[in-house]
Amino acid sequence: MFGLTDEQELIRSSVREFSEAEVAPLAAEIDRDHRPPLETIPKLAELGLLGILIPEQYGGTEMDSVSYCVVIEELSRCCATTGVMVEAHSSLCTWPIVHFGTEEHKQRYLPDLASGVKMGAFGLTEPGAGSDAGALATTARRDGDEFVLNGQKVFITGGGYSEVFIVFARSTEAPGTKGISAFIVDRDTPGFTIGEGERKLGIRGSSTPPLMFSDVRIPATNLLGREGQGFEIAMATLDGGRTGIAAQAVGIAQGAFEAAIDYAQQRVQFGKPLAALQAIQWMIADMATSIDAGRLLVYQAADLEDRGIPHGIAAAQAKLFCGEMASAVAGKAIQIHGGNGYTEAYPVERAYRDAKITEIYEGTSEIQRLVIGRSFLR
Ligand code: CAA
Repeated sequence: MFGLTDEQELIRSSVREFSEAEVAPLAAEIDRDHRPPLETIPKLAELGLLGILIPEQYGGTEMDSVSYCVVIEELSRCCATTGVMVEAHSSLCTWPIVHFGTEEHKQRYLPDLASGVKMGAFGLTEPGAGSDAGALATTARRDGDEFVLNGQKVFITGGGYSEVFIVFARSTEAPGTKGISAFIVDRDTPGFTIGEGERKLGIRGSSTPPLMFSDVRIPATNLLGREGQGFEIAMATLDGGRTGIAAQAVGIAQGAFEAAIDYAQQRVQFGKPLAALQAIQWMIADMATSIDAGRLLVYQAADLEDRGIPHGIAAAQAKLFCGEMASAVAGKAIQIHGGNGYTEAYPVERAYRDAKITEIYEGTSEIQRLVIGRSFLR
């Protein structure tokens, strides 16, 4: 897979145009105010960008994974917060409903998620279960036709404004990962409360609150997949999610790279533009090469998924490489800007802060290395 199709190129150019017109102008302000760009949600929906992974029969645009990554990259090039809003909603909420939901789940949830009437989120992480997701302690006790949920989740992307949550809880006595099940939980369920969003280093516009479950009764029919299948659902969901985060990282890096090129051509020192200095040219060459390498890893993982071939290792490789690449590229972009780049007046400062999370969420770089390493050793 070495190139995009004409249709994928068209998606790139239309999402680029949209992002520059509607997403970029809000990026600095939502970062400064730590507020989600909720006004963008209906515009994303109108373009079909909230239903990318949803079949047309449920109101989605049903794009392939490569196109999806192009969309996430283009949004993130202008605003990493908007990129992850679409990514978490799509990869982490709509995807598991499409792939593990019953017909009733699909009819009940997908049309509203595709049209942006409702946003979706994914509740896996807990105070005592981050990288070790299988250690989660939230419980789901069966009581007649219901499950009763108790526990707490943390760092839930989109939690503040989402209506539909995929929640992982321990529902059987089976040890470790085997006792975990997945549930669909509606925001307005009694006993379900959502805390204050964290104030973060980057992606400050994305809401990241804790979720609290206190005797939350949900219909047993809201079980997603089989009882005990929850961990498998979480991991399979994250296989696609990690590719999406890698695409977000490529977008952040691309945005910082373009800002650095502009700056290097305008800023005059020693009587000539910075771009005339070989030290700067070498940085630009390294940045361009590593962004292209990352983008190809993203396309490889997405293309495998599109062809129905296992893509978990390729996704982990893309996420590992692109997360570290984005941090390095954003760091170089600041270096090219010198003192100006260290101030809020230039977008590379935000890119540097935003890039860091791509080495952490949806599995840290260390977890990606564990997943990749194990695959060669088993
Ligand atoms: N697909 C399907 N099944 C999978 C799988 C996959 N990709 N990966 C593992 N499994 C299955 C295994 O086959 C195994 O089943 P069996 O026991 O039947 O063989 C079972 O799951 C347990 O797997 P492991 O033995 O590998 O479990 P582990 O506990 O040793 O390690 C881990 C798992 C890879 C470390 C996992 O816990 C992990 O990925 N941790 C990182 C957590 C993470 O990514 N969190 C992200 C939170 S969401 C988020 O960040 C979103 C956001 O903000 C935007």
